[in-house]
Amino acid sequence: MAYRVKINGETREIDAPQDMPLLWALRQELGMVGTKFGCGIGMCGACTVHVDGVATRSCSLPVGSIGDKEVTTIEALAQSPVGEALQQVWLEEDVMQCGYCQAGQLMTATALLTANPNPSQDEIENAMRGNICRCACYKRINQAIARVAQ
Ligand code: FES
Repeated sequence: MAYRVKINGETREIDAPQDMPLLWALRQELGMVGTKFGCGIGMCGACTVHVDGVATRSCSLPVGSIGDKEVTTIEALAQSPVGEALQQVWLEEDVMQCGYCQAGQLMTATALLTANPNPSQDEIENAMRGNICRCACYKRINQAIARVAQ
């Protein structure tokens, strides 16, 4: 079945079963591979995108359920001033180690700072808790978010 989905400001057609996770539609059908596969069961955060601005696990979202909602992926993150600022500070703070989880980390951090521009350290830690980093870069991730929040 074909679906029209708003992704990064464009309407894209996806020909896929309605229960295909958005993650696979992005990666396999549209060739947008910035969004990563980690666990596939909504537990790690690697696949995080925004759906109407809300951080959402794309591995657990059937493409047939998106309807008119607006999807934003890491490929368009810099179109948001908050996302652009976070990407810059991410580089300055040398946050990444292996880098695999970082798209999901940035998407979650951008959703947090867009909704709450001045979060406390506890609010940052709570918001980011569901994004797993196997290199344990949590301190630098939280520092980078706190810098943009100032
Ligand atoms: Fe989606 Fe882990 S791949 S939460």
